[in-house]
Amino acid sequence: MNKANVIILGSGIAALQLAKSLSRDMNVIILTKSNMNKSNSYLAQGGIAAAIGKNDHPERHFEDTLEAGRYHNDPTIVHQLTKEAPSLIQDLINRGCSFDKNEEGELLLGMEGAHCEHRIIHGGGDATGKTMIQFMTSEINNNLEIIENMFVYELLMDEARKRCIGVKGKDLDGQIVYFFSEHIVIATGGCGQLYAYTSNAETVAGDGIALAYQAGAQIADMEFIQFHPTLLYTKGKAVGLVSEAVRGEGGRLVTEAGIPIMKGIHPLADLAPRHIVSQTIYSYLKTGKKIFLDISAVNDFSNRFPTITDLCRQNGIDLQTGLLPVVPGSHFLMGGIKTDLFGRSSVEGLYAIGEAACTGVHGANRLASNSLLEGLFFGKRLAEWINAEAIKRPLQGLSSVKIQNPIAEIRKLPVVNELQASMMEHVGIVRTREGLKKQKSWLESYHVKDWANEKLDHLTWEEMSQVFMLITAWLVTDSALKRTESRGGHFREDYPFENNQEWLRKQIIQCQLSGE
Ligand code: SIN
Repeated sequence: MNKANVIILGSGIAALQLAKSLSRDMNVIILTKSNMNKSNSYLAQGGIAAAIGKNDHPERHFEDTLEAGRYHNDPTIVHQLTKEAPSLIQDLINRGCSFDKNEEGELLLGMEGAHCEHRIIHGGGDATGKTMIQFMTSEINNNLEIIENMFVYELLMDEARKRCIGVKGKDLDGQIVYFFSEHIVIATGGCGQLYAYTSNAETVAGDGIALAYQAGAQIADMEFIQFHPTLLYTKGKAVGLVSEAVRGEGGRLVTEAGIPIMKGIHPLADLAPRHIVSQTIYSYLKTGKKIFLDISAVNDFSNRFPTITDLCRQNGIDLQTGLLPVVPGSHFLMGGIKTDLFGRSSVEGLYAIGEAACTGVHGANRLASNSLLEGLFFGKRLAEWINAEAIKRPLQGLSSVKIQNPIAEIRKLPVVNELQASMMEHVGIVRTREGLKKQKSWLESYHVKDWANEKLDHLTWEEMSQVFMLITAWLVTDSALKRTESRGGHFREDYPFENNQEWLRKQIIQCQLSGE
């Protein structure tokens, strides 16, 4: 039996920042479904936002965050985040992480959508996430054990089902392994893989959110999914991200005939908030037109964007044409496990940080390059809270866990491709009551509510993943049906406007315990 003071599920920036900031006398275990390089953090291109430019101020970063989030954000936490952003960057630099600089040794600041200033710090050109993960992995202390290829499929609760005391995982051989801890932290990312087109790592399929829901935690804002406007598109598939920073350097969205599509749609044109750009592209694609990112005005493209250059080469796309075929695809979940200002969920002993959490930072639509920042901020903040927790709780033993018999019957589960295609169609960039209802009934035909209460011990990795996708897809669909307005990442054709009387800052909360 494995015991630790803190168990972290996931291995992105939030997880590593937490691990680094926890006191050295704590035993910490990181459990990850694949390996340390398989996360959305690792794939992050653009960078980290912080108001460090000469003309910039955290207050302006605060305002941009709220405007992009369509004022659904929690202003208190956004205030703290944007104020602390410059010192979080400085801390990383002091620790030895290197970001891109000009010849004078000053940090280069990129521009992205919905920012009023150049404030995006980046590393390795467009390999910011990789740069940071590699650096932060190199910092790991010997109080931290990393266990890769461990699929956590259940949160263990005490007898009274009040406190989370551990997790159950399955290794690649199908062996069940128990882990016990005073503090279980979910940092498994969002749920991009619910959609046919996504920028997300193949491991990011809603696991942590489904786990928390099963354990009775509150889940909030699941209808708010950010669709990134520009995923590289070839042979009917989205094959990876083309950073918004490309538009920040002069890239323009055009039709096949070279007509710019964002002019006149929004004052920021190609750098308008992502939901506006994605919806505009979608309106063209729906009528059978193709959309391209014209990169002919971008200086020294392959040096500034080496990751995208490689991606194009691997997919046989010739950069010399100056045109990259693009489609929007799911990129970021603004909702997730509802947490307070420290990362605590509604279940004692259970925490969430990073994209898995709904902290109130992002509101209805995340401002570009605020996610690595959120991971750094909450990783540190939760560590401070755990470090200060005076009472060291005795670790619970296995005897306190009620082992239930696995279910006898294997119920049918949705085929992953079908689930992804139907989510894209009915719960995607443009939604309607009719489509959402259809999708909800389809998901419910797979007994989603029963699955949320079953023991999964007898399932294979693939089946466990299907169960978690089913539950998370249902949470997104159900929330999207309930929010009868459009705001940020949630657009309903039948309710096309924001309704501030009814919905401003009102959250849809889902929780098994309260029957919501
Ligand atoms: C991008 O590089 O366009 C993505 C950055 C982000 O989502 O914050």
